[in-house]
Amino acid sequence: MSNTVNKLAEATESTQDSPPNLFSPLTIGKVTLRNRIGVSPMCQYASVDGFANDWHLVHLGSRAIGGAGLVIVEASGVEARGRICPDDMGIYKDEHIDMLRKIAEFMEQYGAVPGIQIAHAGRKASTKNPWKIGNRHEKQELSDAEGGWQPVAPSAVPFTPGGRVPHELTIAEIKEIQLAFQSAARRALQAGFKWLEIHGAHGYLLNSFYSPLANFRTDEYGGSFENRIRMIVETTKLVREVWPADLPLAVRLSASDWVEGGWTVDDSAKLAKILKDLGVDLIDCSSAYVRAGDHYAYGPGWQVPLAETVRKEAGIATAAVGMITDAKQADDIIRQGKADIVLLARELMRDPYWPYHAARALEADLGINAKKVLPPNYSYAI
Ligand SMILES: Cc1cc2nc3c(=O)[nH]c(=O)nc-3n(C[C@H](O)[C@H](O)[C@H](O)COP(=O)(O)O)c2cc1C
Repeated sequence: MSNTVNKLAEATESTQDSPPNLFSPLTIGKVTLRNRIGVSPMCQYASVDGFANDWHLVHLGSRAIGGAGLVIVEASGVEARGRICPDDMGIYKDEHIDMLRKIAEFMEQYGAVPGIQIAHAGRKASTKNPWKIGNRHEKQELSDAEGGWQPVAPSAVPFTPGGRVPHELTIAEIKEIQLAFQSAARRALQAGFKWLEIHGAHGYLLNSFYSPLANFRTDEYGGSFENRIRMIVETTKLVREVWPADLPLAVRLSASDWVEGGWTVDDSAKLAKILKDLGVDLIDCSSAYVRAGDHYAYGPGWQVPLAETVRKEAGIATAAVGMITDAKQADDIIRQGKADIVLLARELMRDPYWPYHAARALEADLGINAKKVLPPNYSYAI
């Protein structure tokens, strides 16, 4: 039995007497989440030169105080050119560590497991900060004159037809980016994070390698399934080398392209098995956005079936994400074994105290140790 399977077995065993619910703890390695509610990573477009600041401390700290079991810091660029826009968070230099450490410590002090997502935007990089786009018809690309840069990709094919053509990475450049992911993981550890997520979704660099909709290479990084997954597999191996075996490592996938001829959930299950054998603990099942112009059937819980399929087919813990807003909906996902944790983004923006409100709606306790670390009588006021 691999280390990961052991860890998953432990996580399941600890709650075997009664099936886990939204407020059951989740143990992976030496980390225990007080409940199964996580803050999904969300770009804040509020950094300068990649640095975290007081905005991030308050934004993320509020969600830790709000009772979430896990708070994941937004996509943090492993290279400056791997940020989506110039105001994105970065983790590409050692100087970034200090403020990240302050944030991680604060979150942990209030009982949330501090997580961070490491990312490379690939061909979707060099866009304008959405706050600064005048209207939705305005061009999103940031030109060099406006402080932009040439994005990089598996193939010289733009995300949007007619958009800026990305530089096709050479093999030597691929290896450099893989090492940048490894260095970022090392910095995340130094900053005190206890949960690391590799961003392999939403059409960003790693996703654009494994999806046949964005990778047209003819070398060992393109073509067959084995070749297209090589980038994410090699990157994960390097990250796992420096990220301790007893700390959770998650990978976010676009678990389906939802497009004929694209990446499928069965491909994701196949990849998840490979990643599990490399020591990945959990697959965060998002989907889509690898190519501009595709349309998706959004709706409540629309991506949950992906988490369920990957969990069952690959025998690995999963996170469900996407339009999860209601306490009973979230609780059912866990109770019915569709995922091991739910991640909420926009609903936790609207209501940082969603975990309290969900606990009240379900007549549950907020989770182990929550009362020990959160201010006394706090819950009555919320
Ligand atoms: C403002 C905002 C920023 C986001 N930034 C990220 C990000 O940094 N990394 C990521 O993987 N997903 C990002 N997402 C996607 C969310 O993590 C989540 O998958 C998506 O919003 C669906 O969840 P929801 O329906 O609960 O909002 C972002 C979403 C929003 C709304």
